[in-house]
Amino acid sequence: ALVSMKEMLNKALAEGYAVGQFNINNLEWTQAILAAANEEASPVILGVSEGAARYMGGFKVVTAMVIALIEEMNITVPIAIHLDHGSSFEKCKAAIDAGFTSVMIDASHYSLEENVKITKKVVEYAKEHGVSVEAELGTVGGQEDDLIAESVIYADPKECEELVTSTGIDCLAPALGSVHGPYKGEPNLGFKEMEQIRQKIGLPLVLHGGTGIPTDQIKKSISLGTAKINVNTENQISFTRIAREVLIAEPDIYDPRKFLGPGREAIKETVIGKIREFGASNKA
Ligand code: G3H
Ligand code: ZN
Repeated sequence: ALVSMKEMLNKALAEGYAVGQFNINNLEWTQAILAAANEEASPVILGVSEGAARYMGGFKVVTAMVIALIEEMNITVPIAIHLDHGSSFEKCKAAIDAGFTSVMIDASHYSLEENVKITKKVVEYAKEHGVSVEAELGTVGGQEDDLIAESVIYADPKECEELVTSTGIDCLAPALGSVHGPYKGEPNLGFKEMEQIRQKIGLPLVLHGGTGIPTDQIKKSISLGTAKINVNTENQISFTRIAREVLIAEPDIYDPRKFLGPGREAIKETVIGKIREFGASNKA
């Protein structure tokens, strides 16, 4: 069933696991993630960046596809369709109007005052529609689509408290050293700040840049209140590796399903592994 993130994340926080957000790009990605979640009896969040939504033909195409797949595939676990790194109130509103059940407003590059103002406006509109809201503070490193960070800035626990209390968001992504795309060396996550933030706000925390974080740091993040972990690059790597293998091994094929199918299978396996690592199996 299509739901917001609110209940699934509060349950995850209470029971000590994390729900995966896996970003989608097309039909195969969506099929793979839905199948993996259903097999693992796990809730799942389909992350849609503005770039990916554009690529797929718009927010309405995304919701129509997801709703049809949930029905045709007999998906019974809770599913959220979530705008990833929404860049403005207008984009969040458009996603909500198209049927998204959750949005992230990423106003982290503005001043705290401006971030609060924009986030609050999104929360007001989202609440009227039963849609959950994620906000961000600090700067996640690396690059995802249009989002490029020059440097990593750790979120300030006091500012986190202010953002939460003055906006009414459902979950918070405090950037604490994580990076979009592959890490250069070991990630250096700010666990001390994570602990302080958890104590101050008591809301489910979100960890962006889930690709390449070692399992012990994943587990530690979960124990410190992280209830949602975003993974994108790892599925892209899995898909592309297999597609490339097939194309090199069989240079004469021309039916795209010959590599799209195995790519889809690779994503499914990757997602199953992540769901297990996050402790979300059998939590639907
Ligand atoms: O918003 C999406 C995530 O933070 C993805 O990060 O591509 O490093 O897994 P990743
Ligand atoms: Zn992110």
